[in-house]
Amino acid sequence: MKLLFLGPPGAGKGTLAARAVDILGVPHISTGAIFRSAIAAQSELGLKVKAIIDAGKLVDDDTTIELVKERLSQADTQKGYILDGFPRTIPQAEALAAFSSIDKVINFDTPDSTVLERLGGRRVCRKCGYNFHAIFNKPKNENVCDHCSGEIYIRDDDRPEAVQKRLEVYRAQTAPLIDYYRQKGLIIDIDASPMVDVIVAEFRKVLGL
Ligand code: AP5
Ligand code: MG
Repeated sequence: MKLLFLGPPGAGKGTLAARAVDILGVPHISTGAIFRSAIAAQSELGLKVKAIIDAGKLVDDDTTIELVKERLSQADTQKGYILDGFPRTIPQAEALAAFSSIDKVINFDTPDSTVLERLGGRRVCRKCGYNFHAIFNKPKNENVCDHCSGEIYIRDDDRPEAVQKRLEVYRAQTAPLIDYYRQKGLIIDIDASPMVDVIVAEFRKVLGL
């Protein structure tokens, strides 16, 4: 199954994706995570995108489209994938349609108050990328990942100014994709406000799994 996860920053896309990969047996492809790995590796791509991401702005369409096109050409995506955080603009969606056909788009319906609460407490493993939360999903040890013993950190783009910018960018450039995909009959709306287990159950239900 080829799925897109669409929703504002902090909606819980990465968190549900981490559970959904076990349910569906397909890879989780997060453009944000690919960019963060490139930044950590100080690669050419990482050096190019670091300031943009830290400020909460979008990386340019050409760079992002090329990255996803290359990733979707790899063998592990044959059976399907969960694409998280791509597309984020109409040109990205149009480009994707030219190199892959998707089955469904999960739209994470999330009020701003929930976004702020979730991003305000997010803690991330530097090694495996797992998303913890200081209140809702605490790691056993404050600084160490439960899954891989990696170091836990706070993302640079979770600073309040960057979060406000990301919400603005989401409304202006990404939210129009909801109508774009609704018109194609691909949208499934999910209420992303409840706790994770409730959302996982809803995800299974809406996809008939
Ligand atoms: P990206 O990494 O995709 O960031 P985002 O879309 O802003 O989304 P987040 O990862 O912040 O949130 P999430 O929905 O995954 O929530 P999470 O599961 O972590 O992109 C980062 C940047 O890269 C962009 O700003 C842009 O610069 C660039 N970029 C990426 N893709 C691009 C593209 N296509 N084009 C151009 N630029 C691009 O959950 C958040 C917190 O809440 C966690 O602490 C979690 O534990 C907690 N939580 C989750 N679910 C629940 C729940 N149900 N109940 C309680 N707590 C919960
Ligand atoms: Mg994420």
